Amino acid sequence: MRELAGKTAFVTGGASGIGLALGRAFAQAGMKVMLADIETDALAVAVESLRAPGRDVRGVVCDVADHASVDRAAEASYEAFGTVHLVCNNAGVAGGGGIDDISIETWRWVIDVNVMGVLHGIRTFLPHLRAHNQGGHIVNTASMAGLNSGLGFSPYAASKFAVVTMSEGLATQLAPHGIGVTVLCPGFVRTRIPESGRNRPERYGPSTVPDPESPAGKLAAVLAERGRSGLDPDDVAARALAAIREDQLYVFTHSGAEWRAELEDRFAAILTAMDEAAAH
Ligand code: NAI
Repeated sequence: MRELAGKTAFVTGGASGIGLALGRAFAQAGMKVMLADIETDALAVAVESLRAPGRDVRGVVCDVADHASVDRAAEASYEAFGTVHLVCNNAGVAGGGGIDDISIETWRWVIDVNVMGVLHGIRTFLPHLRAHNQGGHIVNTASMAGLNSGLGFSPYAASKFAVVTMSEGLATQLAPHGIGVTVLCPGFVRTRIPESGRNRPERYGPSTVPDPESPAGKLAAVLAERGRSGLDPDDVAARALAAIREDQLYVFTHSGAEWRAELEDRFAAILTAMDEAAAH
């Protein structure tokens, strides 16, 4: 979608981190912006922070895990702006723990937000994007954790692998309709994701923090530290903006040798196993 000015973007998880940075980049590019988020107060602050003369930025409270809530947020967007052209399914949460003590509720929460949330955004907006015939683009936020298994047995990694494959399949199917798809795969970014439990709905039970001395606790500490020294969310948003304009499927924000090596190891192991199949 080359021309962005005057068009409308809908961004989930827009009250913080990467979603807020996406909203900022889109507003600066002359787009009308609807930020959608579950965290009411943070959403109000985020919307206010993006408002400026000549800009149209609004907010809608939305739980992406709930299809009806996403439908209502879409209706609010159509009422406000008439048409939506760019949909960013970005809201996401991190939750984990040791291999034996990740609760079923934590699995459900992470899958409901990170996978079903993306699905709900696609199902809700796709008929609208197809019908208005003004072109469109869908950005799904996955992660480098959706391409390598470095996090181990983890609902977060499982959810992000799902988002990558959903995006790849969607891109193929939507190309004939002139609707582009981008899957955003950042490495570590400086956001509030380590505090994801702040808006974990009660229906999933309380957030649990792993014992700091356990392997899961040590991994969480390493991840939090790497997040603190991670990329600025505005840099991630700038890459996403370029990918939308250029209609690129994959966006990687971290290109270091260590990230590349993890992918190469995984793909090499898969290809070796395929060669073994061919030898039988
Ligand atoms: P963040 O915590 O700063 O922002 C996430 C936003 O999603 C928050 O505003 C939160 O209120 C909202 N949210 C949570 N549950 C929601 C729900 N059920 N419905 C609607 N909104 C909800 O975290 P960040 O990092 O900006 O996360 C954005 C996306 O980026 C996520 O999908 C995350 O997995 C992904 N990501 C983050 C990386 C990082 O290092 N921070 C790296 C790779 C991917």
